[in-house]
Amino acid sequence: MAISGEFAARRQKVLAAMGQGVALFASTPVAIRNNDVEHEFRQDSDLYYLTGFDEPESVLLLTTEHSEHRMVLFVRPRDPERETWDGPRAGVDGAKTLFGADAAFPIAELDQRLPDYLKDVRRLHYRLGNDRTFDERVLDAIDEVRQKARSGVTPPREIVDPSLITHELRLRKSAAEIDTMLQAAAITRDAHLRAMQVARPGRYEYEVEAEILRTFRAHGAERPAYGSIVGSGPNATVLHHRRNDRQMQDGELLLIDAGAEFGYYACDVTRTFPVGGKFSEAQRALYQLVLSAQLAAIAAVRPGATLPDVHHAAVGVLARGLVALGLVDGPIEDVLKNETYKPYYMHRTSHWLGMDVHDVGDYHLDKRPRPLAPGFVLTVEPGLYVAPGAKCDPKWHGIGIRIEDDVLVTETGAEILTDGIPKTVAEVEQILAARSCS
Ligand code: GLY
Ligand code: MN
Ligand code: MN
Repeated sequence: MAISGEFAARRQKVLAAMGQGVALFASTPVAIRNNDVEHEFRQDSDLYYLTGFDEPESVLLLTTEHSEHRMVLFVRPRDPERETWDGPRAGVDGAKTLFGADAAFPIAELDQRLPDYLKDVRRLHYRLGNDRTFDERVLDAIDEVRQKARSGVTPPREIVDPSLITHELRLRKSAAEIDTMLQAAAITRDAHLRAMQVARPGRYEYEVEAEILRTFRAHGAERPAYGSIVGSGPNATVLHHRRNDRQMQDGELLLIDAGAEFGYYACDVTRTFPVGGKFSEAQRALYQLVLSAQLAAIAAVRPGATLPDVHHAAVGVLARGLVALGLVDGPIEDVLKNETYKPYYMHRTSHWLGMDVHDVGDYHLDKRPRPLAPGFVLTVEPGLYVAPGAKCDPKWHGIGIRIEDDVLVTETGAEILTDGIPKTVAEVEQILAARSCS
């Protein structure tokens, strides 16, 4: 993949969409974990999307106003002593030769140089509010230009959010991005298959989580795309279960929501299966229902459809099934109108997926749900969660199920990026029956 060409093409699109002006994108601030230990650094998604540059303490400036520069990078300079501790840096020269900047400067020179780039620039594209410390520096630079007004220069008159441009671009995935997402999906598939191998009665949720993380890293994924959820028995009914410290029992379901981040793209997959290898009758009934809802929702994904269309396809199946099984009182019209299925299905069915697991891009246009278009990627993740004390026959208590796949909108319909991870009852029971004894 000619990735540097891809980054350059993205910058061209942003510059063209800006019309006139300067755009600023700052790296994620380094966060201290404790004392001199830092949290793992991950580059700001917009900055990475436009450069591929993954070092902290960096700023990208795009300008249509400078006579020679379109792309300027402020970076950490080379520093043999610091590089002994923290590893190599591209430095000022590398910012130009490796990342295509027309000009590059040490990050320490930002405050001094930024006012020059803002002189006589009417519009600044900068997302205020992400990083208050950096906001101050930007405002100081504007102020400095203002101070020089008597010499004839004018400061920016407008500050607009560049994500109006970048997030719209990020919502539509290119062929190269889809290729990367398929790689993240392949790694995630292997991790879920491994999880099915190692989960069994008597083991702990964290043992399964460890195998998932091992598989991610063993295949070159940078990190999990979000905190992995490994919830057994009643923990499967807790939507954001994160402790992953319970011992699994025979007869329970295990819900695993885990996805790899690869090449800065997220995968987001949930599978639910019986720890002991066989679904009980009650588990099977609810599982079939969630699976039917998921298939119906995926079938609703096509250009022109909306996320509420996808959600309603799932809810229709779930609500009818809950009435048929006696968990919710009919008639179905009332169940849908009054949303009485909500004690068991309380979240939405989809979100955008891309560099961020809950990815950017507006969900509404002019207050209306936005129509899906080719290149959009969304999750389809219906579930049913019957808490231990729920007001229904106790045979359903403690059953939590979610089935989640990642779906690309194509010209004609949809493609499941996370295909090949077992999800029918027969597939799941078959793969569990074939587990080795280790
Ligand atoms: N794993 C986060 C989500 O499913 O939205
Ligand atoms: Mn998920
Ligand atoms: Mn999700």
